[in-house]
Amino acid sequence: MQTTIKLNNGIKIPQVGLGVFRASTDEAEQAVTWALEAGYCHIDTAKIYGNEAGVGKATAESGLQREDLFITTKLWNEDIRQRRTKEAFAESLAALRTDYIDLYLIHWPAEGFQEAWKEMEELYHQGKIGAIGVSNFHPHHLEELFKIQTVKPAVNQIESHPYLTNQKLIDYCQEQNIQAEVWSPLGGKDAAPLLDPTICSLADKYNKTPAQIIIRWDIQRGVIVLPKSIHKERIVSNFDVFDFEISQEDMREISALNKNQRVGSNPDNFDF
Ligand code: A2P
Repeated sequence: MQTTIKLNNGIKIPQVGLGVFRASTDEAEQAVTWALEAGYCHIDTAKIYGNEAGVGKATAESGLQREDLFITTKLWNEDIRQRRTKEAFAESLAALRTDYIDLYLIHWPAEGFQEAWKEMEELYHQGKIGAIGVSNFHPHHLEELFKIQTVKPAVNQIESHPYLTNQKLIDYCQEQNIQAEVWSPLGGKDAAPLLDPTICSLADKYNKTPAQIIIRWDIQRGVIVLPKSIHKERIVSNFDVFDFEISQEDMREISALNKNQRVGSNPDNFDF
């Protein structure tokens, strides 16, 4: 059974969601269709991915009720810099064929994110968003936000996988009652942790795939995990993670693989 977590405003979020970064519109449509058939109900996209229309088509044609889906999208950096939050939000709604977003995130702490946050708070108060949050924020970015917020971010979505556990940041978020979500949970495009000998031997031990071991580790760490795939078999198996438990000792062994190795940009010096 899919596990859910309650966010700081009371909204419930399914703990495993399908990520669609680097998927074309058609690939995203197909991946989301397979995912919904497999039992996922949480989809994580972003305006910059350019595939919101594929997500929107798949969800609209899925036969599922809108309230049974959890859809996240993100406000892009250029829209933040150009003070286009409300316009960008309307564009995302149209592409996603919906009249509300379950979770809307500031994608990166781009110049102007404080003003964007105020606009997002308004959209939230108008009932157009279930919860608002951020992505790729270090504690010092969050502290800037705390100075001006009236609504606390519900979520911080960050890079995390066995080679960059980012545990200190996750612990900080937890102390602040901000739910951590993890992107590139399998290590991103190259998915190097899937070939790690420790992960592979745990996969043998639990009779699971390396990806299932990592996704389960995230579930037990208490984070929201967003594995990306455009392949049906992988989409299905990445969701088959609710019927086993990793021991505390093995959990620690996975966490010990950390080498602070990013596959994406550091939020302190991104250049896009
Ligand atoms: P693909 O979409 O071709 O399946 P992330 O860490 O961002 O979630 O990315 C994981 C990467 O690993 C993606 O490029 C994805 O590629 C691939 N992948 C996803 N699930 C699996 C799996 N179960 N086994 C092997 N590779 C996977």
